[in-house]
Amino acid sequence: MTAIDRGIDRGGLVAVVGTGTMGQGIAQVALAAGHPVRLYDAAPGRASRAADAIADRLARLVAKERLTAAERDAALGRLAPVADLADLAGADLVVEAILEELDAKQQLFTALESVVSDGCLLATNTSSLSVTAVAGVLRRPGRLLGLHFFNPAPLMPLVEVVRGAATEESAADRAHATAAAWGKTPVRCADTPGFIVNRIARPFYAEAFRAYEERAADPATLDAVLRESGGFRMGPFELTDLIGQDVNEAVTRSVWEALFHDPKFTPSLAQRQLVASGRHGRKTGHGWYDHSEDAGRPAPHTAEPCEPPGKVAVHGDLGPAQGLVGLIEEAGIPVTREPVGAHLTLPDGTRLSLADGTTATDDPFAASVRFDLALDYRTATRVALAASVAAPEESLRSAIGLFQALGKEVSVVQDVPGMVVARTVAMLVDFAEDAVARGVASPEDIDTAMLTGVNYPRGPLAWGRALGARWVRDTLRNLHHACPTGRYAPSQALIRRAAADEKLL
Ligand SMILES: NC(=O)c1ccc[n+]([C@@H]2O[C@H](COP(=O)([O-])OP(=O)(O)OC[C@H]3O[C@@H](n4cnc5c(N)ncnc54)[C@H](O)[C@@H]3O)[C@@H](O)[C@H]2O)c1
Repeated sequence: MTAIDRGIDRGGLVAVVGTGTMGQGIAQVALAAGHPVRLYDAAPGRASRAADAIADRLARLVAKERLTAAERDAALGRLAPVADLADLAGADLVVEAILEELDAKQQLFTALESVVSDGCLLATNTSSLSVTAVAGVLRRPGRLLGLHFFNPAPLMPLVEVVRGAATEESAADRAHATAAAWGKTPVRCADTPGFIVNRIARPFYAEAFRAYEERAADPATLDAVLRESGGFRMGPFELTDLIGQDVNEAVTRSVWEALFHDPKFTPSLAQRQLVASGRHGRKTGHGWYDHSEDAGRPAPHTAEPCEPPGKVAVHGDLGPAQGLVGLIEEAGIPVTREPVGAHLTLPDGTRLSLADGTTATDDPFAASVRFDLALDYRTATRVALAASVAAPEESLRSAIGLFQALGKEVSVVQDVPGMVVARTVAMLVDFAEDAVARGVASPEDIDTAMLTGVNYPRGPLAWGRALGARWVRDTLRNLHHACPTGRYAPSQALIRRAAADEKLL
């Protein structure tokens, strides 16, 4: 039997309860998949208004020729707002998208239990509540699961299918197959705080906010480095201004609280102050950035042109930055090779090495400069550099000149441990490894979720393999040494993987 065979029937009735932002989007997805759909909302008149809003959206798709008028008419013929919960009696699947409160969800599902038939699947779209707790009050909790759609539901492919402690495997299988039949990309995950995406994505925001708190650089520069070097589509500052600082912080806080204040998930004080000051992002006109009409976007700090070095010595293997050597040669800069080390030296004695969780100032050499990690040094358009406090001005200038000769913009940041991209990616990899080890989801589903749910340029587990577990572990160990709160302590899963890699050598 294929996965699609096991989903609810194409003609099966889908009920959507709570017809705000998410409910409308989910209803549209179910309609597009050919189901009859009923809408119910506790606020009088709201389900009818939601049906009108869906009709408007379908009309826009017809205008853009993405839907025919006949398809639109057929879809609207299958859509019915109802005023009474009892009208959902024939449903094969109920998707709940009401307000994010445990009591309200429990009361709703308790009421639904005596309305729908035993074969009906019950799904909550909760982002942050425990699916186990929502189901905890039911007579038959086995058919309740999480179906976590992302906003906007008609456009976002990812759906997290969440199995609560009591959810029957067959119910999760049917929900997974249904989401797949709807053209979505379903992934399975356990009922743990944040599920997959909202758990593993935390350091993407938190590390940049910490780098800002440590005065490594301003938001525009940190965003530019994460985009142009890290390969992320948006930087964390601009992205949270779009999401809403209040919404993003609430997710961070809820995951942190649900994990009993685990220091790996600690929220950011700088973001707390932003929220407290009412600077919630684009929707309030101000967040990390000023979004008022006449305000321009601040430019990232970018170094002025500097002379490139006449030659470069490569010492040993640069690990994840080895690709730089070929680029230096292609730029016409002569390269000599020395057997021992993991760094470059320039003719003036400057020692250049990849960010590894220590600072350039930690080096015993005065003329030391760190460069940040890049997703791919060939395609990166910007690289961050940080110099030791004792480095002569010429050292930094020759390091800048080297990266400029490779066609990169250079942002000089303060000499903080792990720089910007290196600390962020090391944490993402570790969170993903830890989540696999704790049974949150399979490695494949974790990478799929991060690629499709938040558009990461690479799945964190694949990224970890490309970097090598030993580099990730050592970077985190160094960060942990610099900041021994427990936040950066590498997970047991990462330590095991790095040890296995060492034994294979
Ligand atoms: N907005 C997002 O980006 C997003 C993404 C994923 C998941 N979610 C989750 O989806 C759910 C809905 O979020 P939203 O943003 O669509 O909210 P919303 O405020 O836009 O809509 C909620 C709707 O539920 C109705 N409602 C409230 N209590 C009800 C009840 N007891 N019975 C029936 N209807 C009731 C309200 O009248 C309202 O129309 C929440 O659990 C939220 O955490 C939201």
